[in-house]
Amino acid sequence: MPKYKIAWLPGDGIGIEVLEAARIVLDTIQLNAEYIHGDIGWDFWCSEGDAFPQRTITLLKSVDAAMFGAITSKPMKAAQAELNPKFQDKGLIYRSPIVRMRQQFDLYNCLRPCKAYPGNPLNFKEGIDLVVFRENTEDLYSGVEFNPVPQELADLLTTISKPFAPFAKLPIDQYAISCKINTKAGSERIVRAAFEFARKFKRKKVTIVHKANVVRATDGLFFDAAKEVAVHYPEIKMDDANIDAMTMWLLKNPFNYDVLVAPNLYGDIISDLCAQMVGGLGFGCSGNIGTKLAVFEPTHGSAPKYAGQYKVNPIATILAAKMMLDWLGETEKGAKLENAVAAVIKEGNVRTYDMGGNSKTLDMANAIAEKL
Ligand code: IPM
Ligand code: MG
Repeated sequence: MPKYKIAWLPGDGIGIEVLEAARIVLDTIQLNAEYIHGDIGWDFWCSEGDAFPQRTITLLKSVDAAMFGAITSKPMKAAQAELNPKFQDKGLIYRSPIVRMRQQFDLYNCLRPCKAYPGNPLNFKEGIDLVVFRENTEDLYSGVEFNPVPQELADLLTTISKPFAPFAKLPIDQYAISCKINTKAGSERIVRAAFEFARKFKRKKVTIVHKANVVRATDGLFFDAAKEVAVHYPEIKMDDANIDAMTMWLLKNPFNYDVLVAPNLYGDIISDLCAQMVGGLGFGCSGNIGTKLAVFEPTHGSAPKYAGQYKVNPIATILAAKMMLDWLGETEKGAKLENAVAAVIKEGNVRTYDMGGNSKTLDMANAIAEKL
């Protein structure tokens, strides 16, 4: 009997190729696991009106962890046009499956380590080692959105919110509302995860990223919750920055930062910036971690224009597999895999197109596997 059950969710586009690459290294490292394929992706939206079908949700309830590739998303009108005519008047709305997965399984901790592996020609600066903790279930990703705005909501806002006055003058189909919802418990738990990580791995500082000077209600709540949590970690320095300034400071002096923690959307933004500083999309790995389930993925999307060419860099996904090994408690295997990735990057003999080379996706995976 294999020790672990892993859901295997390639999705579409290059998701399929990068997961194939990750499987090469996981097989070589002999993780004692059974991998179970799950249907997810654009094709399932088109054919059955759901990109994240119920059978895949059921599968995820029965596994220890999952590896996820990537999924193509299209704007609302294109999504409706490609939907099977059988479902076209059912009022189905396309919502990103990964966002749904994060919410449905309460994968509240989006962990995104961004490390500059020595010798990577794409490093912004050698020595960068940042870890982003992104809240993963609430904030502007709440899914509470209105376009057009219901009249009852417009009426209510007219009576309870002074700043709403200019919008109240407009017809309800001339504006839209997306709700940013942040809870105290949700803010506390992501900040706690960041501080626990800092304590465990002896990191020197946690920076709280927000925009509490303007977005007072929600970001104010996040920042206040963060300060309360920080008190319990007196050995770790804490500071904070507004999201806009944060992007500037990170570029100016990345070595002033260590662990960053942010609400969902700011975390989304800042983690792309940090990934770019250590080589870009081919190097950004991500864990969506809850209390029962964790789903690991590259931070990049499905890159339809490269689909089927086996040319993209699989390192992001291979590093996501490393995160999965750590999460399963297979830390020795995790360290071994990371060392193999670092060795291949340092040697520089095998490089995908983004790194200036001609090697293909599976060449990279095989080169890493050879070091294991
Ligand atoms: C990410 C991505 C997703 C997000 C998209 C694909 C929905 O950008 O994982 O960072 O916005 O969270
Ligand atoms: Mg993103």
